[in-house]
Amino acid sequence: MARTRKILKRQQTVSRIGATASSQEKTKHTIFIADSRRMLEVADSSVHLVVTSPPYYNAPYDYKDYFASYEAFLSLMQDSAQEMKRILQDGRMACINCDDMLVDGEKYPIVADVTKIFMENGFKYREHIIWKKPMGYVRISRRSGVLIQNPYPMYFYPDNITESILIFQKKGEEEKRGNHFNHQSIDSKIRRLSQLDARGEYLRENWYVNVWDMTNVLPLNRIEKDVAAFPDELPYRLIKMLSFVGETVLDPFLGSGTTSKVAKELGRNSIGYEIDEKLIPVIQAKIAQRLRLKKKYPKLLEPEMLLESEKASEYELEIIKRKEVENPVTK
Ligand SMILES: C[S@@+](CC[C@H](N)C(=O)[O-])C[C@H]1O[C@@H](n2cnc3c(N)ncnc32)[C@H](O)[C@@H]1O
Repeated sequence: MARTRKILKRQQTVSRIGATASSQEKTKHTIFIADSRRMLEVADSSVHLVVTSPPYYNAPYDYKDYFASYEAFLSLMQDSAQEMKRILQDGRMACINCDDMLVDGEKYPIVADVTKIFMENGFKYREHIIWKKPMGYVRISRRSGVLIQNPYPMYFYPDNITESILIFQKKGEEEKRGNHFNHQSIDSKIRRLSQLDARGEYLRENWYVNVWDMTNVLPLNRIEKDVAAFPDELPYRLIKMLSFVGETVLDPFLGSGTTSKVAKELGRNSIGYEIDEKLIPVIQAKIAQRLRLKKKYPKLLEPEMLLESEKASEYELEIIKRKEVENPVTK
């Protein structure tokens, strides 16, 4: 069993946390129940990777009428981009899982708008990964079924089985010198510990192309049932390929805690922000979970084949409630 220290406390004063990478055995995870538009608790240039999925703009089921207007959503993205720029180290990545959203028959260009906002806030646009969900999980909806009822032109309303993962890199001194990232700045032991299985999952699971086949979290009675959670595999690939062991991964829209759980299992520290304090027990339970990997050829999400020899990772979890939790969306 993992030795865990769970703390839930109210914030007394704001003292900023920062991080340096080390190969420590025990990882540290700090969750703030607070509005991430201002991450007052996180020091400038102290985070090595951001992996997140902002609330989907007024998504019909999960986030219906969540935002007062599209401008309110864009304003949240603007504030978030500025904060991510401040807390990330130069040359490091922010990965934003989002997608264009169809609301009341109108498609909102979220991917384009988020890209523009990040580019205007000191980030370089690096990648656009398409996350493709399996066909088997999509049923013909009332929308796409219209053409079956009316098999004529102009009844085309396709179902969406993809989402986007946008990857932005914070511009900094290395960028000015023409480099994306200074690989020499990483200690050789940390590099070794962070080595990827290039001939294994990278090649076999097609991580090397910009369309990623990943199964979505199914709407069953799981701990994430009230959260639009992404699958473990999404942060798993990004954290492995874009950060080193002992570094700090931040998720400003933590939801059920997927990013922190995966960071822990991969020997990284994490910081999460979540506005909804009802999710505290979900986050605690999720972070305690293990990752499930197939034995022979490591692959995620094969429940029956948990790696037995893997010893549970030791971690420390601290949940801090900021004094005032603001309503993030309507202002
Ligand atoms: C799409 S969900 C994230 C799901 C997460 N990736 C997971 O796997 O569980 C977005 C989350 O952002 C939270 N949120 C919305 N606005 C916020 C803000 N300003 N600060 C912090 N959290 C916020 C919502 O409560 C919601 O839980």
